[in-house]
Parts: sequence; C-alpha cells; structure tokens
Amino acid sequence: MRIRIAVFPVAGLGTRFLPATKTVPKEMLPIVDKPLIQYAVDEAIEAGCDTLVFITNRYKHAVADYFDKAYELEEKLAKAGKQELLDVVRGVLPSHVRAIFVTQAEALGLGHAVLCAEPVVGNQPFAVLLPDDLIWNPDGPGALSQMADLAEAERASVIAVQDVPLAQTSSYGIVDTDEFSGRDGRIKAMIEKPQPEKAPSTLGVVGRYILQPGIFDALRRTERGSGGEIQLTDAIASELDRQKTLAYRFQGTRFDCGSHLGLIQATIRFALDHEKLSSAASSYMQKVLDELAHDDGPLQ
Ligand code: UTP
Repeated sequence: MRIRIAVFPVAGLGTRFLPATKTVPKEMLPIVDKPLIQYAVDEAIEAGCDTLVFITNRYKHAVADYFDKAYELEEKLAKAGKQELLDVVRGVLPSHVRAIFVTQAEALGLGHAVLCAEPVVGNQPFAVLLPDDLIWNPDGPGALSQMADLAEAERASVIAVQDVPLAQTSSYGIVDTDEFSGRDGRIKAMIEKPQPEKAPSTLGVVGRYILQPGIFDALRRTERGSGGEIQLTDAIASELDRQKTLAYRFQGTRFDCGSHLGLIQATIRFALDHEKLSSAASSYMQKVLDELAHDDGPLQ
C-alpha cells in the first residue's frame, strides 16, 4: 500500500538555536528563501502524500499560519499583477493536499509526538519526516519517494540511514543489519545514541521513516529512555521480530539543519545552486575566502 499520510513532529523546543527559536520555530528558519518545513513538505508531496499531520505545541502558531491561506497578501499581489510571487505564495500547499494540526501538550519525546498522530493516521502505513534533516537530491527522486517505492515493494517498514563517523554514534540511533543488498538491509537491532564502544555499526538513523500502524501499540508500551524521553527508536526496536524493517541508504545529501554548521552548509549549498543567486553568491564567497587568505598571509 502506497503511503498517503506524512507526519511532521515539530513540537520540540529547538534549544540549539536559541535565542532565534525563542519566537521563531526551528522549522521556520529559512534556507535561502524557503523555511525548513517547506523542503520536507515538498518531499512528502512528491512521494505521493496528500495528508500532512503536524505535531505542534502552543508556541508553534507560525507553522500553522504559514500553511494557512493568506487572503490579504494574495489579493494585494494579484492587484499589483505580481503573478510570479502569487504562484510562490499559493504553491506553499497544493490544493489537493490537506494539513492537519495536532497538539503535543508536553514535549515527552519524538516517540510520544508520533503517537499523538494516531487518531489521524489510523490503520495504515505512514511516513515520519523530521524537517531539520534536509535531504537534497537534485538529480533524482526525493529520499521519501525512494523509501516509499521500497516499502511498497517489500511490504516493510523503511528507515533512512547514513554512515556517520564512529565518534558521533552517541548523537544518532544506530542500527545493526543483515548484509545489504543494494541500498537496503534488514534491521536486526537498533540502539538510541550508543557510545562508540557500544555501537553495533556506524549506520545512523536520519529523519525519514515509513512505519506500519503497529508502531502505535509499541509506542504505548515504550517507557522513557535516553534523555528521559519516549524514543521512537526504542518502539521500532521492540517490533523488529514482528515487523520486517529495512535500513535504507538513500540517494542524496543530508544536511543536519538542527545544528549550526548543518544550517550554514545547507545555506551555502542552496545559494550556490539557486538559479538567480548562484553567480553572485559564488563571487562573494570567493572574495571572502581570498580576503581571509590574504589576511592570514603575513602571519604564516
Ligand atoms: P530534537 O532532538 O532535534 O529536539 O527533536 P528539538 O527540541 O527539536 O531541538 P534541540 O535539540 O532542543 O535544539 C527531533 C525532532 O522531534 C521533534 C522535534 O520538533 C524535531 O523535529 N520533537 C521532539 C517533538 O515533536 N516532540 C518532542 O517532544 C521532542
């Protein structure tokens, strides 16, 4: 069965980007001219989803406002004949797609946030996308689309993974798998944020999942784990004997926009790829690098 529902857990506190995230949700931070959430939404729609479920909290009105229709703005742009901008504003959410907002009253963890989506998802497979993982694949289908094909063909849950440095295993969910055939391998075990010496591999989970509805019962049984939160990884791990779950090395580049460096890297990469900004951005970067090299010159 092809997935049609995508869940976006955006109720985290976003502490790594304080003070900006005191008032601006992390998901609304822009990469050039689009907020992070838009990249994830576009990827879900491309994969075939037509129902988007946002798990939010009382501080995230900006996310709901962003996907709402902006009547006044649209009218002004239409009257001014600014058709291109009007298309941009209207393109935020295509008309065949609906957005549903569910509140997570307390930030009890990613697993708990996903459980909050159960009344909307019901009894069908669904996707989970973490918008701070921005996955860029300009020459092919998006990561979720690739995963949806695999989930459908194999009737399996699919989890996106990438190789991470051994020293960084304690920042990821880490999987142990059977031997890979092509880009995927069946997951045997999963551990949330292990120290390098306890990590079964260096394959880290990134923020794209296709899950079966059985995950909700598993989440209900899951106790608070790493960081005192209900971890999605723990619930998936508890289902591995019952539910075929594949790790998938996606095609594309992932930017960890939940970190400062990742957000900067994505901004540079997207600016250099932008149809109108590319040349000016590249000249500016070259100029700054030349100046820095020149400044450092006499000291070396
Ligand atoms: P993070 O671990 O990145 O936490 O959450 P965070 O709060 O967003 O950011 P920092 O670490 O404080 O800077 C991973 C994803 O899970 C969501 C977050 O919104 C993010 O998309 N999440 C996390 C929830 O929706 N609810 C929670 O209770 C926790």
